[in-house]
Amino acid sequence: MPATNIEDLIALCKRRGFIFQSSEIYGGTQGLYDYGPLGVELKNNIKNSWWKSVVYERDDVEGLDAAILTKQSVLKYSGHEETFTDPLVDCKSCGERFRADQVPDYCKKEDLTEPRQFNLMFKTNIGPVDDGKTFAYLRPETAQQIFTNFKNVVDSTSRNVPFGIAQIGKAFRNEITLKSFIFRVREFEQMELEFFVVPGTDEDWHKKWVELRINWWKKQGVPKKSLELYEVPKDELAHYSKATVDIMYKFPHGVEELEGIANRTDFDLGSHSKNQDELSLKSKVSENNESNAKLALKDENNNWMVPFVIEPSAGVDRAILAILNEAYHLEKIEDKQRVVLKLKPHLSPIKAAIIPLKKNDEKIVAKAKEIKNKLQSLGLGRVLFENSGNIGKNYRRHDEIGTPICITIDFETLEEETVTVRDRDTMSQKRVSITDLEEVFKDLF
Ligand code: GAP
Repeated sequence: MPATNIEDLIALCKRRGFIFQSSEIYGGTQGLYDYGPLGVELKNNIKNSWWKSVVYERDDVEGLDAAILTKQSVLKYSGHEETFTDPLVDCKSCGERFRADQVPDYCKKEDLTEPRQFNLMFKTNIGPVDDGKTFAYLRPETAQQIFTNFKNVVDSTSRNVPFGIAQIGKAFRNEITLKSFIFRVREFEQMELEFFVVPGTDEDWHKKWVELRINWWKKQGVPKKSLELYEVPKDELAHYSKATVDIMYKFPHGVEELEGIANRTDFDLGSHSKNQDELSLKSKVSENNESNAKLALKDENNNWMVPFVIEPSAGVDRAILAILNEAYHLEKIEDKQRVVLKLKPHLSPIKAAIIPLKKNDEKIVAKAKEIKNKLQSLGLGRVLFENSGNIGKNYRRHDEIGTPICITIDFETLEEETVTVRDRDTMSQKRVSITDLEEVFKDLF
């Protein structure tokens, strides 16, 4: 059963070193979090799993890692300068500011100002002169630099539609109201794919990507029964979207968006192109006299064709919250309770803990280190040589952080070349010969 309240998860994340409040020793900064020793491993594992499924396991997607600081023109023509806003209200009574649709019950309607539009993008200076003109934005989505690099990627890889460009990286939004731990924050990571298709085939590709993404979530331990699909109504669609399906998840605070899959039409490539009147664009874009490229392909009749774009866009931080929530289990064993994180092994921050039974026995410790190095060299993730605490405490700690197996080295290991392998979920223990250990370990993944 997933965690029933967010406090259990927050406490576990802090206690075991997954997630800390940023700048905590100075009182913290709202909406910013730091990922600790286990958090960074979990995060990397989730990102690797996404990259593997979206890039490596397909033959029609290329990767990208673009700059975060984004030139003003990019976010002008993308429409973000004008439309990436939330309605802001002030409460004259308590002096706080809220998103107009998220005013808490303790503020009375009559105390609120009229809503005004507040742009969510962070600005910063570029270069040593602060003249108010030479600024850049911290990107509010990773997508835009995928569009601005469209021609570079096509020219350097000879790709033709259908094909995609994938990117994982930080995005920044000066959110007015924060929510539920890492659910809505001001600095977060996105895993975004822009999949370019022939206009007319976009609706089929949209459906296909919704299906593919649900299957990916299932493989990360987020079952279909915890997900809902939400077709965003026409009047709530982002300015670039013809249709968007949100994958919603039952977070501890309620059902909310985990990933959005949008049909962005030819809006973005068209917006960033020069000579737009030659491109037969289907969407309405602002005239662009600054771009020096046509972000388009030639079709078989030698006419310009601007591909439509299907965009699955998932938040890494929300993925972490959903995956931890699903993995969290509180179990009663005899008269004791244990917390166990039943993470899929490919996501576990530590893949195996190698525990010498006697911490001060040189031969046992040396053997444990030898086994650690052997399993570590397989490149399947972090294997930990665990030489602190007693065995019971080690098992408890590794249950709580989701380590799939603990391997104990004892005197029998020295005599018979066997170890004890303890399974996290069943807590069953079996004796395994060192020669078979590699296979037992590999079989987990
Ligand atoms: N490129 C499209 C785009 O950015 P979005 O729905 O605004 O679409 C995509 O964001 C995903 O990014 C969301 O589904 C969510 O998982 C994540 N996300 C958005 N804003 C976030 C925030 N303030 N904090 C954490 N994650 C966020």
